[in-house]
Amino acid sequence: MKIRKAIITVAGFGTRFLPVTKAQPKSMLPLVDKPIVQYLVEEAVKAGIEQIIFVTGKGKRSIEDHFDSHFELEYLLEQKGKEEALAQVRGIADMAEFFFVRQRYARGNGDAILATRSFIGDEPCAVLFEDDIVASEVPAIQQLIQVYNKYQDPVIALTRVPHDEVSKYGIIEGTEMGTRLFEINQFVEKPKPTETQSDLAVIGKYIITPQIFDELERLKGSVKGELGLDNAFIELLKTKSLYGYEIEGKRYDCGDKLGYIQAMIDFSLKHPEIGEGVKKHIQQL
Ligand code: G1P
Repeated sequence: MKIRKAIITVAGFGTRFLPVTKAQPKSMLPLVDKPIVQYLVEEAVKAGIEQIIFVTGKGKRSIEDHFDSHFELEYLLEQKGKEEALAQVRGIADMAEFFFVRQRYARGNGDAILATRSFIGDEPCAVLFEDDIVASEVPAIQQLIQVYNKYQDPVIALTRVPHDEVSKYGIIEGTEMGTRLFEINQFVEKPKPTETQSDLAVIGKYIITPQIFDELERLKGSVKGELGLDNAFIELLKTKSLYGYEIEGKRYDCGDKLGYIQAMIDFSLKHPEIGEGVKKHIQQL
């Protein structure tokens, strides 16, 4: 079945990024002139996604406004003859069909995914976590869709990380099936470096199938603390094949100050309007 829908989770508190995230969503922080969440939407749309559901929460209304039309601003830009800006502003709302659901309590990313169940229905879909931005030729989520189209099983985005950082990630062990492609044998969420030999880390991009919702529903009552998507993958692995694909491209953790600044530097160097100026500035440092 064609992947038409994507879930983008934007309900996080952004605690690693305080105080700037106290009263604004972390996914609305800019990378040069577009908020992080717009890069995720563009990634999904380039990969053929038509409908996007955001899992939001308290204090996230600016995300809804960003993907809506803005009559006053459009009128003003029209009056002033600012056609390029007008096209940009209008284009954002036209990129896809947008839907919003609120996660009432911060009960984990699995709980957030579960909130979209009746919207997603009985079809496979893409999932994009708000922190992970990948700069690549082929959109990262499209790379996963290509694997899904071949195997029709869930697919998880992977990247190699330094071994002393494995405890920040879901880590998989797998059998290499081809270039960058793994059939997953084991999934451990945030292991200590001594608990795994692997350095293949999960990044927040996935293709999930309806069975994941069944697992999440089943686990909901029994998991202590937060319900993670990882919990569902670990369960599903007992009976089904899961695939991992080492993404081609450069990944940035934009939920982290350093990762965000790295993304900002790289994206501004590539920006057609300011790239040269930024380069000169850095050379003079
Ligand atoms: C989540 C996932 C983890 C993954 C990470 C990637 O963790 O649970 O498996 O490696 O995203 O960004 P979080 O960073 O939300 O704690």
